Amino acid sequence: MDKFIIKGGRRLTGEVTISGAKNAAVAILPAVILSDEPCVIENVPSISDVNICIQVLEELGATVTNIAKDTYRIDPTTIDKFCVPYEYTRKMRASYYFLGALLGMYNKARVSMPGGCPLGDRPIDQHLKAFCALGAENALSQGMIDLSAKKLKGNQIFFDVVTVGATMNAMLAAVKAEGLTIIENAAKEPHIVDLANFLNSMGANIMGAGTDVIKIRGVEHLHGTTYAVIPDQIEAGTFMVAIAATKGDAIVKNVIPKHLESITKKLEKIGVNIEQYDDSIRVWVDGPLVKANIKTAPHPGFPTDMQSQIATLLTLAEGTSIITENIWEQRFRYVDELRRMGADITVNGKVALIEGTGKLMGAPVKACDLRAGAALIIAGLAATGITEIEDIFHIERGYDCMEGKLRAMGADIEKISVPDKPGTKKTETVSKTAV
Ligand code: EPU
Repeated sequence: MDKFIIKGGRRLTGEVTISGAKNAAVAILPAVILSDEPCVIENVPSISDVNICIQVLEELGATVTNIAKDTYRIDPTTIDKFCVPYEYTRKMRASYYFLGALLGMYNKARVSMPGGCPLGDRPIDQHLKAFCALGAENALSQGMIDLSAKKLKGNQIFFDVVTVGATMNAMLAAVKAEGLTIIENAAKEPHIVDLANFLNSMGANIMGAGTDVIKIRGVEHLHGTTYAVIPDQIEAGTFMVAIAATKGDAIVKNVIPKHLESITKKLEKIGVNIEQYDDSIRVWVDGPLVKANIKTAPHPGFPTDMQSQIATLLTLAEGTSIITENIWEQRFRYVDELRRMGADITVNGKVALIEGTGKLMGAPVKACDLRAGAALIIAGLAATGITEIEDIFHIERGYDCMEGKLRAMGADIEKISVPDKPGTKKTETVSKTAV
């Protein structure tokens, strides 16, 4: 079992370079399946979710070559299987993008239904609704979703809720469907636009991505392309909050400031100084941090994926803050862990009340999901004393060498490996690489 050990109290300074966006990469990699030729994808983050996508592509028969750091050449023309087993989908929910990509290319797909999720109920009814609208039939047997269509035909798809995953899956399935598809009430996240840009660079005809109506005119063939994934908005936001929580002063490089607007505005309200440049942001704190109220919402609202990190910052601010979580019903599970570090937070349904105490104390804690883990790292960096974070595999699903990046900014953090069996004391440092 790997753990992070953090000695808190060090200001983050210098600079950090943000990696490619997880939530764009996990859709773009499956989208390569739709191409008649090999593609080169750059700025792919080194995270375990990406590793799973690559394993699935190889399992399907694609030829994947890591041609440079963060760059993969993927040849989908060797694909000869259409089934994604449970061993992958149980590790990564985003493996549902293989449904849309395989269906769009081969008119068939068999993907294991994703298992339970720490964020609560995660239905895929809207994904299936989109596939059916395009002419596919679906059946569930032995935990596998089977999709098949004689021919996909463009149609109107109206989503009952704003959903990132179903919007992306509808795009993947519709891109080669005959005629016009209109997706209404579409999600508008930066990764939706990135997927559309990627598909268009292969010859697709997608308009309106980034608005709530996306129009897709089906094309017969998609060709190879070289494409760089956008920088990760949430990784950038996480580092911005970490700098603020340690009262640091640092530059966050390789970002698209426009994607960070909702985060930037809230941080400024809390008392964090921010200066934006073309593709970087300086973040520093030279005064008190103050309370703020936050409601999570689909883009361009405040992202749910930044909720736990900003809540951690608010435990260090003056006054009472209120956070309302509108996307995931179980996204306050990190609160119990933060309480162990001295935070004063009360949760009632989807609302959390945070009494800023101004300080946190190190403690042994456990990451219960990816962003909860990021919040605990921030807490550990700002706390007095030592914080030990268990179950860091959650963090490694979505953050590219977080401990190395933090260490290069002055943090005292290391990753250690401890034997799983209780009572065994030996510890071994497994990763001390600087970035
Ligand atoms: N929903 C339905 N039916 C569906 C799909 C979604 O009711 O068929 C509901 C969900 O239950 C939820 C809401 O719609 O209440 C939004 O879900 P969405 O589909 O947008 O989420 P997702 O695509 O499954 C992605 C990110 C999440 C992020 C959410 C919201 C990926 C791989 N995952 O999930 O990222 O929280 O959008 O922005 O893109 C993370 O990175 O930590 C993470 C959880």
